[in-house]
Amino acid sequence: MTVDARIAELSEHVGESVRIRGWLYNFRSSGRIAFLLVRDGSGLVQVVASEPDLTEEEWGEILDLTQESSVIVRGTVREDARSPGGVEMHLEHIEVVQRAEDYPLALKEHGPEFLLDNRHLWLRSPRQVAIMRVRDRLMAELEAFLRDDGFIRVDTPILTPNACEGTSTLFETEYFGEEAFLTQSGQLYSEATCAALGRVYCFSPAFRAEKSKTRRHLIEFWMLEPEIAYCDHEDNLRLQERMVEAVVSRVLETCADELETLERNLQPLERVKAPFPRITYDEALNILEDADIPIEWGEDFGAPHETEIARHFDRPVFVEKFPGQCKAFYMEPDPQRPELVLAADLLAPEGYGEIIGGSQRIDDYQLLREKIHEFGLPEEEFGWYLDLRRYGSVPHSGFGLGIERTLAWIGGLDHVRETIPFPRLLNRLRP
Ligand code: 4AD
Ligand code: MG
Repeated sequence: MTVDARIAELSEHVGESVRIRGWLYNFRSSGRIAFLLVRDGSGLVQVVASEPDLTEEEWGEILDLTQESSVIVRGTVREDARSPGGVEMHLEHIEVVQRAEDYPLALKEHGPEFLLDNRHLWLRSPRQVAIMRVRDRLMAELEAFLRDDGFIRVDTPILTPNACEGTSTLFETEYFGEEAFLTQSGQLYSEATCAALGRVYCFSPAFRAEKSKTRRHLIEFWMLEPEIAYCDHEDNLRLQERMVEAVVSRVLETCADELETLERNLQPLERVKAPFPRITYDEALNILEDADIPIEWGEDFGAPHETEIARHFDRPVFVEKFPGQCKAFYMEPDPQRPELVLAADLLAPEGYGEIIGGSQRIDDYQLLREKIHEFGLPEEEFGWYLDLRRYGSVPHSGFGLGIERTLAWIGGLDHVRETIPFPRLLNRLRP
């Protein structure tokens, strides 16, 4: 009797005859033996084919196989300590579903642009598969953490008439004769749903027409944004550090194999324990001054500044209390120094930059109205948002965690282009 199995489950089938449906990753033969490395998305297994066990036709097909041909293989599972997964398969039957044409991504080094042009195929490589599996886990663990904490996911619109994070990075589109934008952040809408449900989060793509070509910027990225009623700046930071600690530790537990594939040094991740250090914006400026990359008071950090600041700490670090002028319009001023806002960025260690941006929100109607004017935003588009300060306004806070930057950090990846299945970059809309 033959059972269907996925490669990841093979160790439960030692001694049995099993059928696997997958693709040929690699192949070598020597005399009357051939070794097929087969992948099925759950793992890789070595399939040993021996000429005397097979028909002449099957043996001929095996010798003619090409990388990425789709194959269904049947055989007996044997323990083999040296093989990936601790097992190998002894082939009894093979069906070639499609013999692949010459595969463009032969198993050798390729340049990044070529790989990105072939992203639809590149995704099949063990490294990219590992990254996608960690991405899936990261998203699932973030949602599980929030759900356990009483948060409700409420989705927010992608097409919007207003700006959330400044007007300079808006993607414009046309909405039946009206101007519309792709969302930069679901936050403003989450502030509304948070007054309905108390603790909410939205989780969606965000779009920024940023002319930045760095290893940290995507044009389209995914952001998880919790929003909490009756929550001040301090509570907000506590929640963030609790969430990041829990999720990193869960990913370490559940993705050990994938992190090994990525050759990730786990030590820095094992140190991610709350409380995280905190410094003020002004203290950060001193660090930058000492490092000879000073910025003017009031300017926001760029990538080299974030890297320098984070270098001084062995775990993620909060930078808090920014000048209001370099942040968004909706942030609550610091009662001690009203030129500052109760905002914080969480900078990842090892040069991965800002992974979270968050703040306490203005809850006073008059002040929010003034800020909307001060930032040159059209009040008529923010009437509904101002309403939230007219009907049961409460102190509330929230933050946005960028999935791709967080994944780049956890996976130890050089560039966010590998963290999303089909990256949208300054120079790239395809495939
Ligand atoms: O700091 P940002 O712009 O904050 C907001 O959008 C707030 N509305 C969030 C909130 O309070 N609800 O973005 C938050 C995070 C950043 O820390 C970063 O991780 C990610 O989103 N991010 C990007 N990731 C990749 N490419 C880009 N261009 C990104 N811009 C922001
Ligand atoms: Mg930010």
